[in-house]
Amino acid sequence: MKKIRIGLVGAGWMGKAHLSAMLNEQMLFGPEYGVPVFEMVADNNAASAKVAKEKIGFNRVTDDWKVLVNDPDIDLVDIATPNAFHYQVAKAALEAGKNVYCEKPLSISAAESKELAELAAKKGVIYYVGFNNTQNPANAYVRELVQSGKLGQIMLFIGRYDQDQLLDPTLPITWRHINKLAGCGALGDLGSHLLSVSQFIMGDISAVNAMTTTIFPERPKAKGSSEMAPVENEDIISFMIEYANGAKGMISSSRVATGRKNYLAYEIQGTKGSVIYDLERMGEVQVYFQSDEEVDRGFRKVFLNPLHKGYSAFQPAGGIAIAYNDMKVLEAHELFSAITKGTKYDCTFEFGYKIDRTVAAILESAKKRVWVDGLSEILWASCDFPS
Ligand SMILES: NC(=O)c1ccc[n+]([C@@H]2O[C@H](COP(=O)([O-])OP(=O)(O)OC[C@H]3O[C@@H](n4cnc5c(N)ncnc54)[C@H](O)[C@@H]3O)[C@@H](O)[C@H]2O)c1
Repeated sequence: MKKIRIGLVGAGWMGKAHLSAMLNEQMLFGPEYGVPVFEMVADNNAASAKVAKEKIGFNRVTDDWKVLVNDPDIDLVDIATPNAFHYQVAKAALEAGKNVYCEKPLSISAAESKELAELAAKKGVIYYVGFNNTQNPANAYVRELVQSGKLGQIMLFIGRYDQDQLLDPTLPITWRHINKLAGCGALGDLGSHLLSVSQFIMGDISAVNAMTTTIFPERPKAKGSSEMAPVENEDIISFMIEYANGAKGMISSSRVATGRKNYLAYEIQGTKGSVIYDLERMGEVQVYFQSDEEVDRGFRKVFLNPLHKGYSAFQPAGGIAIAYNDMKVLEAHELFSAITKGTKYDCTFEFGYKIDRTVAAILESAKKRVWVDGLSEILWASCDFPS
């Protein structure tokens, strides 16, 4: 029973989600895969750190993440800060020889992510990036349908990740609107999740052609303030894709999508069958097979069930709802298992770099209003994703 001494940097929304996932991982999988010890939390907002200490029982609190990453009693540095800090915290943690668990996106630039992936590979530690949608049993099922050839030759991936969380123009500026903190807008925040799902199922993207829109170019500096600050990045991103395997794609993502709450949805069309999926109806995958008798052909609903990877950790029978936090539990389990048993995992920093390289190409394409290609030449020997 190996202890994993956790140092959490950033105790906001995702910091809490990580801690809750680690506790649930213990209940569902037991101590065999490691036992988290909540050793230290670092947050520059003292109130957030205090809540984490009191609710989770962290042994120590600091307002300086450098103290945490250099502490000899930390085994795993867990990074859940705004995007801009991922690079510096992850780099320092790797240099100190720590295992690193970093929220998505890995960093705010492809160059930083490449450097992190290269450094991590040399260190002999676990380096995990939190693209939790790859843990969704539905996406694992669709990946299997695609890779087994059951859908035939894949022709098209059409995806959207839309939310309306920022539709209200009176909502004030946050770090998500400022490029030096977020890197970009809807693309990094939401679109990167869909890129991770696309990478996981379809393999590498080789070329993109994109356009961006900012619907609300300024927002109040603070809640209720009449002083305005500029929104520096896109509310909506839309792009066309060429995949390395020859398939084509279209993806669009909006943070001001009226009526959409957490609409990560896609359709994949193959020559022998098609799939439709929507995270707002997380437990259902719609499948269509050309091999059905013509009279019976039509999309049919497959409820997630214990035969789908990951689902049986939560429920003994099909059709019982699982939810967002369960993806984080599976992520925590994969992470702990990698640390204590050396098991393989998909969401390495190389994976994070591929997503950030694609994000950079999409932004470049939108800026120049041209296709950007040659992306699939950046293949990593250590990655075993389909291509
Ligand atoms: N995987 C997902 O589904 C998902 C969902 C939401 C957010 N995220 C990612 O999680 C990260 C955090 O987002 P969030 O929504 O939890 O943000 P948040 O604003 O709720 O929390 C961020 C926390 O980091 C703290 N912080 C800021 N700068 C810091 C620093 N220099 N040192 C220490 N602490 C610092 C803040 O005080 C705050 O408590 C982002 O990278 C975001 O992209 C991922």
